Amino acid sequence: MLHAWSRAFFNRLAGSSTIKRLASRYGMKQPGGFARRFVAGETLEEAIAAARAVEQRGMMTTLNYLGERVQSAAAAQAATREYLAVVETVLAAGIGRNLSVKLTQLGLETDRTACTANLKQVLDAAERAQCFIRIDMENSTCTDATLDILEAVWQDGYRNVGVVLQSYLYRSESDVRRVSRLGARIRLVKGAYMEPKTIAYQRKADVDASFVRLMRVLLTESVYPAIATHDRRMIDATYAFAAERGLPPDGFEFQLLYGVRRDLQAAVRDMGSRLRIYMPFGREWFPYFMRRLGERPANVLFVVRSLSER
Ligand code: FDA
Repeated sequence: MLHAWSRAFFNRLAGSSTIKRLASRYGMKQPGGFARRFVAGETLEEAIAAARAVEQRGMMTTLNYLGERVQSAAAAQAATREYLAVVETVLAAGIGRNLSVKLTQLGLETDRTACTANLKQVLDAAERAQCFIRIDMENSTCTDATLDILEAVWQDGYRNVGVVLQSYLYRSESDVRRVSRLGARIRLVKGAYMEPKTIAYQRKADVDASFVRLMRVLLTESVYPAIATHDRRMIDATYAFAAERGLPPDGFEFQLLYGVRRDLQAAVRDMGSRLRIYMPFGREWFPYFMRRLGERPANVLFVVRSLSER
C-alpha cells in the first residue's frame, strides 16, 4: 500500500513547477548534486565516463538519453538527432553498444507515424554500429502503441530492438507471449507509473507474484530475457528457476538502475551473472528522478541531507 501511496504522492510533486525549479537549481550541481546519485551526468561526455567506470567494475551498461512526452515534432526530431549522436559517440568511445529509448521522446504522443520513422532512423544507425536499442515502457496509455510499433519495425526486418513489459499490468502475461512469439527480447520490470486497479495490481505482493510468474515464462520461452529489479527475492527466485531448468548463466541477464542498491549490484556480479546497469543522462532528469523517489521514499532523506550540507 505504501508503494501506491508514495508513487501517487511523488507523481503529484513531479507536476509542481516550484519543486522542479528548486530541483533543477541544486540537483545536478557539481559536486554533490542530489540527483547525481541516479543520473549519470547532464552531458554525453559525463555519461560515457560514468559508463566506463561501471564497465571497469565488471558490469555492462545501457545508456538512456533522458526525455519523455515531447509535445512537438521539432522536439521529437531533436531527440532523434541526439540519439544518432549518442550511437556515433558510443561507437567511437568503445563502450558497450546498448541504448534505452522512450517512444514519447520520439513523438509518440504527437504523431505516431513520425515517431515510427524517428525510431527507424535510430535503429538504422544503431544497426550499422551493431548497437541494441531497448524501447522502455511508459504508462498504460502507451502500451498498445509501443507494442504495435515494435511489431511493425520487426516486420520491416529490424532485429536490434527489444521492449520492456511490466508485471503490475494484468495484460502483461499475454504481452509476454506475444513478444516472445515475435522473437524480440524482453526486459521484465515491476512498473514505475501510477495505474488504476482496473488494469493493474496495486499490492506489492500481487505485483511480485506476477513478476515471478512472468520471469518463469520468459526464462522458458523468450530470447535472452532481462530481469530488471532491485528486489533480492525476485533475483533469488530467478536464480532458483534458472538452476532448476539448467539454464546457462549467459542465457539471460539482470539489470539494475544506476545508483540504486550498489551492494546488490556487486553481489549479482560476484555470483557470476550477467549484469547491466541502466544509465540515464541529460538535462531532463526531473520526472525520472521523481519516479525513483516514489519507489523508495527513504531516498528523500538522502536529498534533504545533501541540501542541508550546502
Ligand atoms: P521494489 O520496488 O519492490 O523494491 C525492492 C527493493 O529494491 C526495495 O526494498 C529497495 O531496497 C530497493 N529499491 C527499489 N527502488 C529503489 C530506489 N528507487 N532507490 C533505492 N532503492 C530502491 N519501469 C517502467 O515502468 N518502464 C521501464 O521501461 C523501466 N525500465 C527499467 C529498467 C531497469 C534496468 C530497472 C531496474 C527498472 C526499470 N523500471 C522501469 C522501474 C521498475 O518498474 C520499478 O519501478 C523499479 O525497478 C523498482 O522496483 P523493484 O523491482 O526494484 O522492486
